[in-house]
Amino acid sequence: MEKKKKASFSGSIGFVLAAAGSAVGLGNIWRFPYLAAKDGGGLFLLVYIVLAFTFGFVLLTTDIGIGRKTKMSALKAYGKINEKWKFVGLLTFIIPALIMTYYAVIGGWITKYIVAFATGKGNEAAKDGYFGAFITSKAAPIVFMLIFLAMTSIIVYMGVEKGIEKFSKIIMPGLLVIIIVIAIFSLTLSYKTEDGTVRTGIDGLLVYIIPNFDGLTVSKFIGIVMDAMGQLFYSLSVAMGIMITYGSYVKDDVDLNKSIRNIEIFDTMAAFLAGLMIIPAVYVFMGKEGMTEGPRLMFVSLPKIFEEMGFVGNIVAVVFFIMVLFAALTSCVSIMETLVANCMEKFNKSRKTVSLVMAAIYAGLATLICLGYNVLYFEIKLPNGAVGQLLDIMDYASNYVLMPVVSILTCILIGWITKPKYIIDEVKKSSTSFKRAGLYTVMVKFIAPVMLVVLFLKSLGLF
Ligand code: PHE
Repeated sequence: MEKKKKASFSGSIGFVLAAAGSAVGLGNIWRFPYLAAKDGGGLFLLVYIVLAFTFGFVLLTTDIGIGRKTKMSALKAYGKINEKWKFVGLLTFIIPALIMTYYAVIGGWITKYIVAFATGKGNEAAKDGYFGAFITSKAAPIVFMLIFLAMTSIIVYMGVEKGIEKFSKIIMPGLLVIIIVIAIFSLTLSYKTEDGTVRTGIDGLLVYIIPNFDGLTVSKFIGIVMDAMGQLFYSLSVAMGIMITYGSYVKDDVDLNKSIRNIEIFDTMAAFLAGLMIIPAVYVFMGKEGMTEGPRLMFVSLPKIFEEMGFVGNIVAVVFFIMVLFAALTSCVSIMETLVANCMEKFNKSRKTVSLVMAAIYAGLATLICLGYNVLYFEIKLPNGAVGQLLDIMDYASNYVLMPVVSILTCILIGWITKPKYIIDEVKKSSTSFKRAGLYTVMVKFIAPVMLVVLFLKSLGLF
């Protein structure tokens, strides 16, 4: 029976691309640029990169190591490591379950923009107010969300190998190329404001890459670290069982150390380049004030770049949004795949049944999120300082609350109960070298848990 068959990746490249397919998605292209812009650019970028190669590496190594060692999905893996820690598996399950409620909504926004540009409505999309009118309309966001959710569900329904591997191999490199092209173009932009000052793409680039310490307070700095950390979890798809599931599909002869490094580099590169594409343009057209737009940033700024490109802009836009759609699909597939894989194990039902039930549940939940911008609209101040709607509450609950909790518990489990050797041996089993083993030990035992606790308290608004 097909539900008994354990899927596995065909080798190292298949694994790296599939994991990168999960990692590189809306987090890099939509979420990273708006956070970086909100936090003023350069300083956020610097903090993020430092965290990516220390924390990101530790969390990714731990998740993938746990997966390959136990050969189980998160729900069971924690219990296998230590019976008393089974509950962490349950917690990890809640995170993708929450993210899934709004991922398809943003996937729907992307789908909408493909249609807008493909039908020659690019100029309208570049106007102020277009995006707002779209998300506050009642039916359209739901229809586009359902289209995106249906695509995701079909891939998951078909099974992991056919679904994920093939997609990632073609899409990932293509996406990077087009982002680079748009980023270069956005550096050539310039705009003259009413008072006669000219803002250029290069000025915007400097805002993006040079840290600005003016007016920085300790509390503001911790806020930036907190944003960067939440983004890191999200972007690498760690601390939510996803990379554990993927790790369980990896064969024993795959060089884990090298694979993990490649995933880290690829993901960080994609985020950096997406920022390079969006932030200078935001600065040019909307100045510093435009940088605090939040989740809508990419949707209001990119159409303006495409408009500047003239006729080819429409074509570039369609190709770009299609690539982003695929990147978002590979990520959403990984979220849904984890939920489905866990439920298959838990309820002993077939992939097909579980996928169908899951698709129906999320069609309902994601509809509620869409309605959060009209019928169910309200504004709430979140403990991390942001003001938001339903979508932002989900994002906050998963990225600022649950992910730190799961990471703290995982660090304690691996650092103090099984001891870091548990993971290090798993990595060394198939890697030619593991130079960062020392860094891994210190991070997982001391630095990561302490810092995560501080950030967690800050996220809760406790100081
Ligand atoms: N990491 C993916 C991205 O950057 C999103 C994602 C989040 C995937 C959570 C899986 C789980 O878009």
